[in-house]
Amino acid sequence: MLRKLMRKKTEDVHLLNDRIEAVRKRQIPNHVAIIMDGNGRWAKQRKMPRIAGHHEGMKTVRQITNFANELGVKALTLYAFSTENWKRPKIEIDFLMNLPGEFLNTYLPELMEKGIKVEMIGNMDALPAHTRKAIIKAIETTKDNQGLILNFAMNYGSRLELVHVMKELAKEVSEGTLEINSINENLIDSKLMTAHLPEPDLLIRTSGEVRLSNFMLWQLAYAEFIFTNVLWPDFNEECFMQAIEDFQNRDRRFGSLEGDQKG
Ligand code: IPE
Ligand code: IPE
Ligand code: MG
Repeated sequence: MLRKLMRKKTEDVHLLNDRIEAVRKRQIPNHVAIIMDGNGRWAKQRKMPRIAGHHEGMKTVRQITNFANELGVKALTLYAFSTENWKRPKIEIDFLMNLPGEFLNTYLPELMEKGIKVEMIGNMDALPAHTRKAIIKAIETTKDNQGLILNFAMNYGSRLELVHVMKELAKEVSEGTLEINSINENLIDSKLMTAHLPEPDLLIRTSGEVRLSNFMLWQLAYAEFIFTNVLWPDFNEECFMQAIEDFQNRDRRFGSLEGDQKG
C-alpha cells in the first residue's frame, strides 16, 4: 500500500516537472497579480480563528513566490491589505500588521539566496511603525537583487492611488509646469505606484469571489483574469501552474483580430 502510494507521489512529481518544462517553452507572464482571498473561510472550515487562516496563508506566499521566481516571472504583486480592510476588527488588523515582520524576518535569508527583490505599493505612512520598519528593512536589504520582484500591495487602494495621480497632475497644470494636452496614458502610467513594473498580464483571485475589490483598476485594463474557488491557504504550485497554462491558452487580442479570425 505504502509503496503504491509512494509510486503515485513520484509519478505526480514527474508529471508536474513535465508540465513545468512545457510551460517554460511558452510565454511566461511578466507580471502576475494575485488577490489572496479566503483565509478566513479556510480557518472557519477547520473551526479555527480567522487569524489562523492568515498565518497559513503566509506559507502559501512563500511557496508561490519561490515557484514564480523559478518559472521566470518578473514581478509578482500580492494584495495583502486593502484600504478597505481597516473596517475589520482591531484584533484581526493587529495580527495582519504583524505578518510582514514575521514573514520578512524569517524569510529574508531565503529571499537573498534566491535573488528576490521586495517592494511595496500602498500608503506606507498609515501603517504601524513596526510594520513599516519590517517592510523598509526588506526593501533596503533586497534592493540590488536581480530576480523576481515581490511586490506587496499593503494598505493599497486603486481609487486612492488614482486620486493622488489626478491631484498631482492638477497641481502641475495649475503651477504651469504641465500642459493639459500633454496628459496621456503614458504620463498617467508614469505617476502610478506601479510605474516601474511591467503591466500585469495575469490576475488571479482565489476563494470564488468574482470582483476586483479596488485592486489595480487602471493597470488591469488588458490583463487576463482567472478566478478559482481554491482558498488562498490551499493554493499551491499545481494551482499556480494551472493558472499559467490557462493564461498561455488564451488568445490575447488587445482589440485587434488575432488568432482564428485573422485573414
Ligand atoms: C484574505 O482573506 C486576506 C485579507 C483580506 C487580508 P480574507 O480574510 O478576506 O478571507 P475570507 O474572504 O474572509 O474568507
Ligand atoms: C480583498 O479581499 C483584499 C485583499 C485580498 C487584501 P477582501 O476579502 O477584503 O475583499 P471583499 O471584502 O470580499 O471584497
Ligand atoms: Mg475575503
